[in-house]
Amino acid sequence: MFFKLVAFLLVSLAAAEDLSFTYNGFQSVNLSLDGVAGVTPNGLLRLTNDTRQDQGHAFYPNPVNFKSSPNGTVFSFSSTFVFAIRSEYADLSGHGIVFVVAPTRGLPGALPSQYLGLFNEGNNGNATNHVFAVELDTIQSKEFNDINDNHVGIDINGLHSANSTTAGYYAQNNGGFQNLKLSSGQPMQVWVDYDGTNKQISVTLAPIKVEKPQAPLLSLNLDLSPILNETMYVGFSSSTGSIFTSHYVLGWSFKMNGQAQEIVMSKLPKLPRMGGKKRSKLLTIGVPILSVSLVLLVVSGLIYFIRRKRKFAELLEDWELEYGPQRFKYKELYIATKGFKEKELLGAGGFGKVYRGILPSSKIEIAVKRVSHESRQGMKEFIAEVVSIGRLRHRNLVPLLGYCRRKGELLLVYDYMSNGSLDKYLYDQPVVTLNWSQRFRVIRGVASGLFYLHEGWEQVVIHRDVKASNVLLDAELNARLGDFGLARLYDHGTDPQTTHIVGTLGYLAPEHTRSGRATTSTDVFAFGAFVLEVACGRRPIEAHGPDQDLILVDWVFSFWNRGAILEARDQNLSSEFVAEEVELVLKLGLLCSHSEPTARPSMRQVVQYLEGDIALPELSLLGLSSNGLTFAHHEGFDDFAMSYSSSLGKGFSHSSYAAESTLLSGGR
Ligand SMILES: Nc1ncnc2c1ncn2[C@@H]1O[C@H](COP(=O)(O)OP(=O)(O)O)[C@@H](O)[C@H]1O
Ligand SMILES: *[C@@H]1O[C@H](CO)[C@@H](O)[C@H](O)[C@H]1NC(C)=O
Ligand SMILES: *[C@@H]1O[C@H](CO)[C@@H](O)[C@H](O)[C@H]1NC(C)=O
Ligand SMILES: *[C@@H]1O[C@H](CO)[C@@H](O)[C@H](O)[C@H]1NC(C)=O
Ligand SMILES: *[C@@H]1O[C@H](CO)[C@@H](O)[C@H](O)[C@H]1NC(C)=O
Ligand SMILES: *[C@@H]1O[C@H](CO)[C@@H](O)[C@H](O)[C@H]1NC(C)=O
Ligand SMILES: *[C@@H]1O[C@H](CO)[C@@H](O)[C@H](O)[C@H]1NC(C)=O
Repeated sequence: MFFKLVAFLLVSLAAAEDLSFTYNGFQSVNLSLDGVAGVTPNGLLRLTNDTRQDQGHAFYPNPVNFKSSPNGTVFSFSSTFVFAIRSEYADLSGHGIVFVVAPTRGLPGALPSQYLGLFNEGNNGNATNHVFAVELDTIQSKEFNDINDNHVGIDINGLHSANSTTAGYYAQNNGGFQNLKLSSGQPMQVWVDYDGTNKQISVTLAPIKVEKPQAPLLSLNLDLSPILNETMYVGFSSSTGSIFTSHYVLGWSFKMNGQAQEIVMSKLPKLPRMGGKKRSKLLTIGVPILSVSLVLLVVSGLIYFIRRKRKFAELLEDWELEYGPQRFKYKELYIATKGFKEKELLGAGGFGKVYRGILPSSKIEIAVKRVSHESRQGMKEFIAEVVSIGRLRHRNLVPLLGYCRRKGELLLVYDYMSNGSLDKYLYDQPVVTLNWSQRFRVIRGVASGLFYLHEGWEQVVIHRDVKASNVLLDAELNARLGDFGLARLYDHGTDPQTTHIVGTLGYLAPEHTRSGRATTSTDVFAFGAFVLEVACGRRPIEAHGPDQDLILVDWVFSFWNRGAILEARDQNLSSEFVAEEVELVLKLGLLCSHSEPTARPSMRQVVQYLEGDIALPELSLLGLSSNGLTFAHHEGFDDFAMSYSSSLGKGFSHSSYAAESTLLSGGR
């Protein structure tokens, strides 16, 4: 009884001097911090703050007596703490946390990463370190024989653990071993106990909601007396590697010669929200949704781009590169014409549809002609001509601004002619008609434009499709010849099986239909038909009942034959006309329609006749006897008609009926 009392007195006396502290959070706690360690405003001890390759230390600021004398034995001690390791990735983390008993407050010369802020390559394992540590390591460092990347180890003077094992705990009532993931971000509790009597170290780990397991996770029978000096410092060390990781200690309790006081979990500071459950929710729900929508976005973006690319795809070959300025982007034309809207359609001719547009860059009004064209043959020559013609500017030619090529399609870009094509002023009871001086001006203008194509340019350009509907009127009612040379595209490489249009019936010279060859003379023939058209206000061929076509040339010729050529003029002209001019024009029309090419004047002569520079020769002197013309003309025409009648049926009621190359090439 007495001994018991004495023993009790002794123990309580020692207890009175023995150090003991408990921190349920570290708000306003006096700790010795270094490295990146710090205490957050809400009291978390944050050893590393989301950094890489860094370390932090936190020590109880005062020295702690572990022995009563330098040669004495180490007292029993007990410590427990709650920690959490949070990293940017769920499965990866940077190194770990160490509970450490060391001779100094800092650990001078210590390195981060695998050295855990405890040692360096020089002093690791050296007995002069006098360090006892318990490591919670999340990286397997092979150099220190780490067993895995989630282990708890007891370290004496170095990082080669004296004993180590996988993190986890032995659940009560034979619940078996439960694994714990140190870097899970969840707070966990650790107990480090040293039994000074039995010289035994034991380390226990558990989730915070679990009572201290009876069986320790790890133990080591070792007398710490040679390891620890009389006075030591206790604290924590942490280090990060290549992953941003934060190491937290939430609470800490220590007692020399006794059981450390329990940590009050409810008083512990809260961990930041970023990690843990919130993050995993974000990962399990947010990330899949995000990635699915991202994939959808990328796919739809791709489809959009491919479709767009296809939509605006064009053909561009090497030989075209020199035509850069004349080359339009399909996209530009697409935008200009509002996507080739029907509303923008100006008309449709033999070669394709013509759309009105406004160039987005320059705001210039344009007319875009879409010509479908499968064959590559002749394209190069044609484009070369288009471009060279595009370079020439003449008052009586529709300015050709450039072109664009797509698969099976050619787009020609012209200046917009605000008054449209001439034909609509001439026949079918026109709403607006032209007076004689306007008509005469138009005829002279077209003659001048055609003359320019034939002779004013370094190469002879044959128009091939002179007719009223190809004469456009600009804002000042200047006649401008359009479509030049386009027929040529179809002259080249014509496929006898396909129907191509080369020139227009009623304007085709007889020798042209026979040989299929266009010459300046065939242009003059078409010009003749055009001139008669303008003067008479009639189409070259008009239907007047079945088998009763009016052939304009024959009709005018019959007037001439009767000596009353002026009667052939358009009755819409009323009385305001200059008789000499009308007569000149009608006679010129007949002359140009001569079935014998050599008898037709050249465009140079035509211009001279029209300007009055030279007098028109007498038609009768040119062999235009009544039989001569009629016969000659009909010979050619019947030829033509015969070859057509099978395919076109009876009568060519509209002048817009076009000749087909199949027949032309057959004639070649
Ligand atoms: N540069 C332009 N400016 C305004 N209108 C045009 C232009 N080019 C063509 N058009 C219109 O488009 C219609 C069809 O043109 P086009 O294909 O040349 O006819 P065609 O082949 O019958 O001669 C013309 O009747 C004209 O009204
Ligand atoms: C913290 O502890 C150290 C060492 O004992 C002492 O020097 C310092 O004054 C203390 N600081 C506070 C704020 O108590
Ligand atoms: C971590 O702490 C250091 C030192 O206090 C500071 O310079 C750094 O900005 C902090 N980093 C983060 C991510 O908080
Ligand atoms: C401590 O031990 C050493 C050798 O182990 C001895 O030399 C020394 O005298 C001892 N000191 C005391 C105070 O016992
Ligand atoms: C241990 O450290 C001491 C002092 O720093 C040094 O003299 C000694 O050589 C080291 N021993 C080994 C094995 O490195
Ligand atoms: C290491 O700890 C385990 C678990 O406590 C124990 O069974 C084992 O004997 C220990 N090993 C050593 C070498 O002490
Ligand atoms: C620890 O004790 C050893 C001898 O027991 C001594 O050589 C060493 O200097 C001491 N270290 C410190 C930091 O006091």
